Amino acid sequence: MTEPRTPDARRSAPGFATRQVHAGRTAAADGVNARATPIHLTAGFVFEDFGQARDRFQGAEDGFTYTRIGNPTNSALERRIADLEGGTDAILVGSGQAAVSVAVLALLQAGDHLVSAESIYEGSRGLFLENFGRLGIETSFVREANDPLAWELAIRPETRALFVESIPNPRNDLVDLALVAGVAHRHGIPLIVDNTFATPYLLRPLEHGADVVVHSASKFLAGHGAVLGGVIVSGDGFDWATPAFPHLVEPARSLGGASFTERFGGGAFAAYARDVVASRFGPTPSPLNAFLIQQGIETLSLRVDRQSATAARLAGWLEQQPEVEGVDYSGLASSPFHALAERYLPDGQGSVFSFTLRGGLPAAVAFFDAVELFTRMTHLGDVRSLVIHPASTTHAARTQEQRDAAGIGPGLIRLSVGVEDPDDLIADLERGLAAVRRAVRPAAAAVAAEPTAPTVLSASAVSAPAPSAPDLAEVG
Ligand SMILES: Cc1ncc(COP(=O)(O)O)c(C=O)c1O
Repeated sequence: MTEPRTPDARRSAPGFATRQVHAGRTAAADGVNARATPIHLTAGFVFEDFGQARDRFQGAEDGFTYTRIGNPTNSALERRIADLEGGTDAILVGSGQAAVSVAVLALLQAGDHLVSAESIYEGSRGLFLENFGRLGIETSFVREANDPLAWELAIRPETRALFVESIPNPRNDLVDLALVAGVAHRHGIPLIVDNTFATPYLLRPLEHGADVVVHSASKFLAGHGAVLGGVIVSGDGFDWATPAFPHLVEPARSLGGASFTERFGGGAFAAYARDVVASRFGPTPSPLNAFLIQQGIETLSLRVDRQSATAARLAGWLEQQPEVEGVDYSGLASSPFHALAERYLPDGQGSVFSFTLRGGLPAAVAFFDAVELFTRMTHLGDVRSLVIHPASTTHAARTQEQRDAAGIGPGLIRLSVGVEDPDDLIADLERGLAAVRRAVRPAAAAVAAEPTAPTVLSASAVSAPAPSAPDLAEVG
């Protein structure tokens, strides 16, 4: 017998769609009861008198002082995202890169070691290798991210965190979060999950054992592609009172000699990330951007539902096309990650995925230049559908060998599916495939005759876009 649906009024907690428009709201502080969160565009906040200035600086009185330290518009968004992720605290920063940076710098110091899944956003990979490398924080990468032994072998006595993406960029090679969290916790270290592609609507990593979640809020959370933002969310399950994190357990200058774990308990990581890392390095977002991200979040579930459904339809359609060699979408039964998708993404498998064209680079160039509705752009999670060729742009900083090992071949195209009419998107994909047929006709004919025959084409048949400079390659 199926359970009758509980009427909303009697549910113990409001549902996601309700919380995405209401969570985190506090009594109006602007004196006029504005319904939308007001944009507090101000550098600082007036102190009533000497005592208030002193008490706010010394933590004896709650209240705002200066926008780099905190701002009511930013705080409202932080409360909402923390609620949607099921976390206890959230820290808003200026971009997804800033979120990854702040999360890692709040945990690791020179001499420490990070272990990351190999299949991650190229900007994070560059940050770990070059920027943290220069600071004395070394990173090892695990290729077989669902093999516990691979993580065990990479972990050293000085390892202080594991890092994965819930839906990895760009190949949808899902990670078993509970498995990786289990390994991390056996070693007394936290798991950080970049949940940008999944959003808290489809997946909440804290429910699967993660300890810290990061997002590029520039993507689905905002959805409109108008601003950048990032967020770090912490749960309350990890015991930070361990010698592995001396900066959290030793007396802190900013706490008058108390330690972060004494003062904040399970909130020690978030308090340190906010008060010592984010506010000092200073990647503070404008309250205007916080407002715009909050506007986006209010329709998150509606957009993600539609975008996931359309992506599933497009992925299934592409899989049937003779010009397409393979589609990396975990919602497809053919995906090696389908079982993980059923477990972790039952409500939709997201809307950013890749497919590989037969015919390599010439086919990719022909497709990329022919589409009209898909925007050629390095971004994702937008209401508009977007297309990018990772090997020559986002992943250009990797060597050919590294790209081959990651399955990012010259014929691979990444799509971010928006909210347009699915039929129009399919018509645009068909336009792209028609251009592929024209560009690589002899090979396509061979493929049609013998679908399994390898297609060997010269990249010089079509002029390729110039590769981006490495430092520009790590966007999107
Ligand atoms: C998974 C993932 N994390 C982080 C980022 C960085 O985000 P931002 O561009 O907001 O700095 C990106 C950007 O594409 C991303 O795809």
